[in-house]
Amino acid sequence: MDKGKLQMEFEKYIDRRQSDSLKWQRYAGRDVLPLWVADMDFAIPEPVTRALQQRLQHDIFGYGVLSQGTKQAVCQWLLRRWQVEVTPSQLVTLPAVVPGLNFAVESQQLSDIGFFSPVYPPIRKVADNLNIRGRAFELKMEAGQYRMPLEQIEQAAAGGMQGLLLCNPHNPGGTIWTDAELQQLLALSRQYELLLISDEIHGDLILPGHRHRSLSALAQEQDRVITLMSAGKSFNLAGLPMAFAIVKPGGLRQSLKGWLQGRCATHNVLAAVAMETAFSQCQPWLDALTEYLGQNWRLLEQTLSSVAGVTLMAPQATYLAWIDCRGLGWETPSKVFTDYGVGLSCGTEFGAPGFVRLNFACPRETLELALSRMLKAIETHQP
Ligand SMILES: Cc1ncc(COP(=O)(O)O)c(C=O)c1O
Repeated sequence: MDKGKLQMEFEKYIDRRQSDSLKWQRYAGRDVLPLWVADMDFAIPEPVTRALQQRLQHDIFGYGVLSQGTKQAVCQWLLRRWQVEVTPSQLVTLPAVVPGLNFAVESQQLSDIGFFSPVYPPIRKVADNLNIRGRAFELKMEAGQYRMPLEQIEQAAAGGMQGLLLCNPHNPGGTIWTDAELQQLLALSRQYELLLISDEIHGDLILPGHRHRSLSALAQEQDRVITLMSAGKSFNLAGLPMAFAIVKPGGLRQSLKGWLQGRCATHNVLAAVAMETAFSQCQPWLDALTEYLGQNWRLLEQTLSSVAGVTLMAPQATYLAWIDCRGLGWETPSKVFTDYGVGLSCGTEFGAPGFVRLNFACPRETLELALSRMLKAIETHQP
């Protein structure tokens, strides 16, 4: 399908209300547009649908294995898109990225880890889940982008912190960390034996004019790095979960693999078909998608950037606008916007009260309606 036709596909409204969708069921029966959890209101790529339909013609869904071909498709994708050289044997299959974050920490028996703040809520929760020490590092804001507080990280590493959870590109905010920041983290990892766990699930959702910088592309073979990736976010396959950890040092990989045994179900055969097809046949779809997302972002920016009390952060990646509403003087902005018909993620869950996160992976018409409702809220709501 050519780019123009693909763009038309993204314009289509698909009714998800009766599809057991987490995103849409939250406001069931109410006139609220759900622009919160990170999945997209777009149909998955047609080649993926066809491949799934073909697999469904076989009536048996027993335990599966991941073929060499499937793993090769992941490796080729990583090389082509992320400039990461990885062999199939360096990939560890995971049920999804969030369990993978917890497993990575637990398998290495870490008792003291760090994470940036604000950040995707499940990353904040890992230390609590495992009942270990968690240190939050407030991100710095420079020229409209988040920057890493490297000095504090070094102090913590010198003081016994054993691991750092990274989100790259960062959610929320969509910042792609710079080579210099990533290199400095790697240097700290070497000096203090710090384990770096990099969640790169948004690494394919790069907006026009930017490129993903994977920690794995900069790391050396023996660096203590675990990079998590999946097709879930970029190809809208969150309900068909499957993820990978890229783990190059043999000892680290074997301990993670050993720990996973008996703790995870074998993979879902449909998820494997979907992922392989996405990585091997759907690059044009993804390119058209990121272009469409870029246009949605520009619409959002044009509509909200000059509104008093609201500050936008320009995302370099992801389809998630991170909006600082503290200037509006409202106690809980997400509640106010919900009352006006727009369901957003509340910044408090990320560690940033007064912010909201808006998922703009929806047809333009939906976004236009949501933005007009937000403007109405800003014009009329009295704190
Ligand atoms: C940074 C980040 N990691 C992980 C996930 C979820 O990954 P999974 O569904 O594979 O657990 C999300 C979903 O929004 C995310 O934003």
